[in-house]
Amino acid sequence: MTSPFAPGFLEGRTVLITGGGSGIGLAIAQALAGAGANVVLASRKIDRVTEAVEAIRAAGGRALGVAADVREPEAVQAAVARAVAEFGGLDIMMANAAGNFVVPFTEMSFNAWRTVVDIDLHGTFHCAKAAHPHLKASPHGGRFIAITTMRALEGWPGCAHAAAAKAGVMSLIRSLAVEWGPDGILCNTIAPGPIGGTEGVKRLYEETGLSTGLPLGRLGRGEDIAQAALYLCSEAASFVTGTDLVVDGGRQRGQRGGA
Ligand code: NAP
Ligand code: COA
Repeated sequence: MTSPFAPGFLEGRTVLITGGGSGIGLAIAQALAGAGANVVLASRKIDRVTEAVEAIRAAGGRALGVAADVREPEAVQAAVARAVAEFGGLDIMMANAAGNFVVPFTEMSFNAWRTVVDIDLHGTFHCAKAAHPHLKASPHGGRFIAITTMRALEGWPGCAHAAAAKAGVMSLIRSLAVEWGPDGILCNTIAPGPIGGTEGVKRLYEETGLSTGLPLGRLGRGEDIAQAALYLCSEAASFVTGTDLVVDGGRQRGQRGGA
């Protein structure tokens, strides 16, 4: 896909992407690095993150990997501090890390619920807390973007924990958009549909045998979400805040049930 954005338009900006070593987060990291941003990837598995960082560097990008569990506020603070120490600031925070698995509510343990809510909702809160002073100081205007899903607002049988957590994230983003507007920080979510080749699609569709029911007749690609991220980071989106950018190939309209 040829990007419609000007080459190098994110030069001089630094973005931290949680869960940036795989799937959608990696696709976003590659696109933002390709547009000139310094990218910092943070997640638990440092080997995978390091591999992603090396691939981005090999393609000519600037990248740094940090081990961090988003459930631990200190770890997220430390990841942000590393980004700032290495690149001189933080302009964009991308809260992408998530955990999810299909389990009927009656079989869901207390710890299963707590684990997903901790990663998805509390993890995003930790990102917001750690990033705010730096986003406020960004000379470009800070951006806080969370990766969610419209499933959170539709009811999501088999994924009640993730649905509740992601709905919480969407609500948090709406509140932050208002509170942080005066600080020049735009806050939005991207709500992808099923993206081929990802852990999400493996767990939610391939392992359950559910149909994606997509009107466009194809799964999404990582770059579909990456292009949405580029848009939200660009000047073209400078009046866009407090909203969900749905990039789902019409899944919301086409789905006829399922998880
Ligand atoms: P994925 O590759 O499994 O991405 C999840 C990432 O989060 C991994 O890189 C993982 O890395 C990281 N992570 C998980 N727990 C973490 C923790 N406690 N601390 C730090 N990092 C953690 O799956 P994906 O499908 O690309 O999902 C990416 C995002 O897109 C998620 O927010 C998901 O809800 C959303 N989404 C996906 C789809 C889809 O079709 N795939 C659709 C809608 C929304 P480590 O294991 O190294 O920690
Ligand atoms: N079905 C039912 N319960 C499950 C489960 C499943 N498939 N997977 C995990 N759980 C339960 C565990 O049994 C445990 O509960 P318990 O202590 O009552 O037994 C709880 O969830 C926590 O599991 P654990 O494996 O200790 O958590 P973790 O912190 O090591 O890993 C997960 C977090 C479970 C979310 C793991 O799937 C993960 O790391 N996911 C990241 C990638 C991902 O989910 N990508 C898709 C994004 S859409």
